[in-house]
Amino acid sequence: MNELKITSKFTVYNDNSELSKQDNALFLKAIEARNSAYAPYSQFSVGASLLLDNGTIIKGNNQENAAYPSGMCAERVAIWSAASQYPNSKILKIFIAASSSVKKVDSPVSPCGACRQTIAEYEFKQSKDIEIFFSGETGKIVKANSLKELLPFTFNNSLL
Ligand code: THU
Repeated sequence: MNELKITSKFTVYNDNSELSKQDNALFLKAIEARNSAYAPYSQFSVGASLLLDNGTIIKGNNQENAAYPSGMCAERVAIWSAASQYPNSKILKIFIAASSSVKKVDSPVSPCGACRQTIAEYEFKQSKDIEIFFSGETGKIVKANSLKELLPFTFNNSLL
């Protein structure tokens, strides 16, 4: 029997002034998306912006529903929008920004499990890592160079 230890690596930015110009532009798009989220039930707004390899930026935000499970996260709205409009383009980066009207979101909000699995699908499909940035309303911004940092032992179609 062996013990397997898996470590993850992240870059932590103190705030957006430490981002590159391109990454900061993507951050501003995530905030723009977050500000038009439809989150009347949780009051928790999330925006996601994607940079594609053709230079296009795609935005998405969470869309809630009175029948709660029918709602959808920002990341999947953005990813599926990109995948449906630009099926042959690769996703280079995703930026996630969250805020709440009932509490201070001052630490980075990482993607939920289902969104991680969805990002995994496209990272595997395109054979290219996706940079994932995540942030709250204030505070630090975290970057993972690949979904694999967030979801080790990823289930993908090579196992089917
Ligand atoms: N939410 C996202 O949009 N992305 C995540 O990764 C976590 C959660 C949304 C879903 C729901 O509308 C609200 O945040 C509260 O869970």
